[in-house]
Amino acid sequence: EGFGKELLKHKNKIFPYFANHLLKIKSLKVKNDDVFVVAYPKSGTTWTEEIVWLVENNLDFEKASTVSHTDRVLFLDEKPLDQSEQALSPRVFKTHLTFEYLPDQVETNAKVIYVMRNPKDMLVSFFHFAKWIKGFSFSGKFDAILDLFLQDKIIYGNWCEHVNQFFANSNVLFITFEDLIEEPFETTEKIASYLGKKLSNEQIQSLVEFTSFKQMRKNSSFCFQETDKNSEHNQLDLFFRKGEIGDWVNYFDEQMSSKLENKLKNELNPNILIKY
Ligand code: A3P
Repeated sequence: EGFGKELLKHKNKIFPYFANHLLKIKSLKVKNDDVFVVAYPKSGTTWTEEIVWLVENNLDFEKASTVSHTDRVLFLDEKPLDQSEQALSPRVFKTHLTFEYLPDQVETNAKVIYVMRNPKDMLVSFFHFAKWIKGFSFSGKFDAILDLFLQDKIIYGNWCEHVNQFFANSNVLFITFEDLIEEPFETTEKIASYLGKKLSNEQIQSLVEFTSFKQMRKNSSFCFQETDKNSEHNQLDLFFRKGEIGDWVNYFDEQMSSKLENKLKNELNPNILIKY
């Protein structure tokens, strides 16, 4: 429905990758210093990954500016497994997958950080992303994206189930995009302490600055190869589009909002608080 042919269906869920890779992921050997950053797409995955990578690599800002982000953080859903197997520790993985697709050993062996974003802003971000990324031949209107979300036909399946699953797991550190925006210092400190690292206030402050929207948007280690549908645009400006809470008001009318909120009322764990 407007998306490209590279999509794959498995047990009624739609994924952007190839089945033989997806189903092999479960067998990956997990080490106990591995960290997995999990999120539904467009929820602040990259932002969280960058904070985690820096914490795990002793705030190596030099390397974070010069080595491509896709070589530093292993995108589990896409990266050939032998490359992940051979990567040096500490390994930082990113994934949009839920536990049933993740390596069996993740739950017992690894640290998992889940980042949630309010679904209205997530969908607006998704809409823009789908318009320019190679592999999604999407050219519809915003309504079309909302409908896919409401019918669980958007990639990675039902959003509520995704969030509920990680929220319910007490080993997982659950943070939100809105926390990162509103309380960057506290949230970064929380991430570091979950990872077992004690950082000074100055170190946390420098981490917050390096991973601010303005700085990340300038960091060419984030130039992605997969883009280029729209080569006259700067890839960094497209990916780091707005980085704000509340852009949804420019896309949702009252009816659209109530459809979405109705779904959340029925399907989302009521203990999960969403900030718009
Ligand atoms: P917008 O499209 O709303 O700007 P993901 O990494 O999961 O794909 O999420 C991408 C979204 O996170 C984009 O949202 C992007 O701008 C935002 N983002 C990435 N890094 C950020 C940062 N350092 N500060 C604020 N927002 C950031």
